[in-house]
Amino acid sequence: MENRVAISTLPFKFEELQEKSRILKEAGTDFLHCDIMDGKFVKNSTFMPDKLEKLAATSELPLDVHLMVVEPTKYLKFCKMAHSISIHCEVFKTLTECRTAIESIKNLGIKAGVAIDLHTPAKNVIQLLQIVDLVLVMSVKAGSGGQKFDALALEKIKLYDSIREEKSLNFEIEVDGGINGDNAQKCIQVGANILVSGSYVANSANFATSINSLKYQTDD
Ligand code: DX5
Ligand code: ZN
Repeated sequence: MENRVAISTLPFKFEELQEKSRILKEAGTDFLHCDIMDGKFVKNSTFMPDKLEKLAATSELPLDVHLMVVEPTKYLKFCKMAHSISIHCEVFKTLTECRTAIESIKNLGIKAGVAIDLHTPAKNVIQLLQIVDLVLVMSVKAGSGGQKFDALALEKIKLYDSIREEKSLNFEIEVDGGINGDNAQKCIQVGANILVSGSYVANSANFATSINSLKYQTDD
């Protein structure tokens, strides 16, 4: 089996996403990774989830929503057509609050992901691995595209992969930030299943070639 590739919305204008999703799908993309920033959890702001309904209706790709917002549950009503929604563990005061938010995503019939920022300790989400469908491991500091991949993320991927194995869990591991043709294979080798790319693919001369350079055989 091959890993999947999700392309970030960040490098594109909202108005061009419908057309881009068609082109990206033809080029071998599996998901449209919708980066949503509220200017509070991270300093930048992007289009807000109320636009996701329109995008979902026109996108040729399933939406992999990444909520970088302080109150993610406020936005779930706009994400009903998403394939998956990942919320940041850092915005919750307690594990119970985060767990409740994850359950509310699952109750919508949507794959629920917990996102963990680059410098957040890996242990902070371990107890959630039993209930999530996805763990989104940031390999850059959340908040902007075009940053350099930080190998610190590999330690988290390895740890979560070993816990998945040990406890026969079936969550997926998605890696997000600075992914390119040089670090993709290493992420897959240590257990990642989905790679997110923004600038590496968006700035490439040929989407199919650059996306293909991010695909490798995985164990499963
Ligand atoms: C950063 C976003 C990432 C980013 C990926 O906060 O969550 O999805 O846009 O873009 P690159 O691949 O350019 O790091
Ligand atoms: Zn993202």
